[in-house]
Amino acid sequence: MASLHSFRHVLLLLLAALLLLVGASGAVEGKKGGKVDVALYYESLCPFSAMFVVDSLAKVFKDGLLDAVNLSLVPYGNAHVKDRKISCQHGSEECFLNTVEACAIDAWPDLRVHFRFIYCVEDLVVDGKQREWESCFGKLNLDPKPVTDCYKGERGHQLSLKYGRQTDALQPPHKYVPWVVVDGQPLYEDYENFEAYICKAYKGHPPKVCDGLARPPTPTVLEVAEAGNRVSYYDSGDIRLKPNEDNHAKMKKVVPDDDD
Ligand SMILES: *[C@@H]1O[C@H](CO)[C@@H](O)[C@H](O)[C@H]1NC(C)=O
Repeated sequence: MASLHSFRHVLLLLLAALLLLVGASGAVEGKKGGKVDVALYYESLCPFSAMFVVDSLAKVFKDGLLDAVNLSLVPYGNAHVKDRKISCQHGSEECFLNTVEACAIDAWPDLRVHFRFIYCVEDLVVDGKQREWESCFGKLNLDPKPVTDCYKGERGHQLSLKYGRQTDALQPPHKYVPWVVVDGQPLYEDYENFEAYICKAYKGHPPKVCDGLARPPTPTVLEVAEAGNRVSYYDSGDIRLKPNEDNHAKMKKVVPDDDD
């Protein structure tokens, strides 16, 4: 009798577990609402990252694409971690602004809010005025306190380490920044055409902007078509491609001090 009883218990438990699983996966699907995952891996002082945020990515807020995408920003880029200390490609000032931007995402999880802030900071970077980044709080009427508390405390460092782990876990690994991933697929150097990839991946009724966009090339074509002149490469390691002279001059403009 007792064993039959516990057998029924086990069955009931299994059934409950199954229902939970089905429910959970349904909830995930429902939450996603068929949006296309778009992630930007970037670093705050890379001129190409800054220009991409300001000139290209901001377009999703204007042309109706925002409803079709789940956009995540990952401010870390070509940094690396050793003994929990982070070093950045463009020096400590970049690590600092990466952390400030990580804190902004944390403080204002709403993309519309943290994107405006990051846009404002990156717009200053494009002009070589990143030291005025704090003016963005006032310009956007945002309370500096949550961000300030975050980057001054352990929270900011934790967030940067988290973004580091996320960047290092990329498959395939990133080769440079900006590195744009649409639905798990990197766009390599075709990142400025990200809208076409979103339109291609989107299962819902396409926003109007999609009408005028050509179908993007396939991933294999992308991988072999790399040109290598509108991105910031690692400055060490086995990838030794460098931006051309012109771009290099532009990079210098936004790198007032490099502590490496
Ligand atoms: C959006 O993307 C992030 C990061 O990939 C993910 O954690 C989150 O669950 C996604 N949100 C939705 C609503 O799909």
